[in-house]
Amino acid sequence: MTAHLPIGVFDSGFGGLTVVRSLVEQLPNEDLIYLGDTARAPYGPRSIAEVRKYALQGLDFLVEQGVKALVIACNSASSAAVRDARERYSVPITEVVLPAASRAVSATRNGSVGVIATRSTVASGSYDEAFAVAKHITLTKQAAPRFVEFVEAGVTGGDELLGAAREYLAPIQAAGCDTLILGCTHYPLLSGVINFVLGNSVTLVSSAEACAQSTYGQLTQAMLLRHQPRAATRTFYTTGDASDFQGIGRRLVGGFVTDARRITL
Ligand code: DGL
Repeated sequence: MTAHLPIGVFDSGFGGLTVVRSLVEQLPNEDLIYLGDTARAPYGPRSIAEVRKYALQGLDFLVEQGVKALVIACNSASSAAVRDARERYSVPITEVVLPAASRAVSATRNGSVGVIATRSTVASGSYDEAFAVAKHITLTKQAAPRFVEFVEAGVTGGDELLGAAREYLAPIQAAGCDTLILGCTHYPLLSGVINFVLGNSVTLVSSAEACAQSTYGQLTQAMLLRHQPRAATRTFYTTGDASDFQGIGRRLVGGFVTDARRITL
């Protein structure tokens, strides 16, 4: 394995671009190949078996492109497929669940941690597993499926979103959580409204940022990190419409989403 190869990043669609944004900030010299399975997104309402099957198809594609590491940016895909992926591929794999959980364990002061995620992630029990060794933590889980719809429609404010946020976050407040994991690729883009409802005393943990830090650590340990300044390349593949991907991607995270190419899995 050589450090000169790109990193493959997989997501169900556009949301993983929040992870790409964190990777670009923290690992600016790395070439990235991103695949968003937009034709079959959202994964959140799908069964765990279905998400696992689709995620492994996407990861197979990225491995065929010759990557030095894989990042499973999607919480639903991480929850359903990380074990199989680790058995199947020989490259280092980073996912989003454990890095976020370990950040939350360090951040909490009162031991009450919340996680909001898709239905599929909540049903998979992946966060319960991640916290199983931290016996002093009480975990409150809440599915927040409409948040994905708001983000993809470009809505980050307004009464309707505020109403949904109040409803989804009520159990988190009732449990007295002082730390909340944003356990879905899209949710960092709603940090504003989430912070508005919960206030500054609740620490928000972005799984995107934690995932990029974990990728940095894994690549450094494997001596695969590119640390010399260079103009890195970022290539975007989608299973859906390429110009839609580019348009929505740019709107969500900005200019580094250049031309996207359509593929079939
Ligand atoms: N990427 C998904 C996740 O992080 C959210 C969007 C979807 O449901 O496909 O769980």
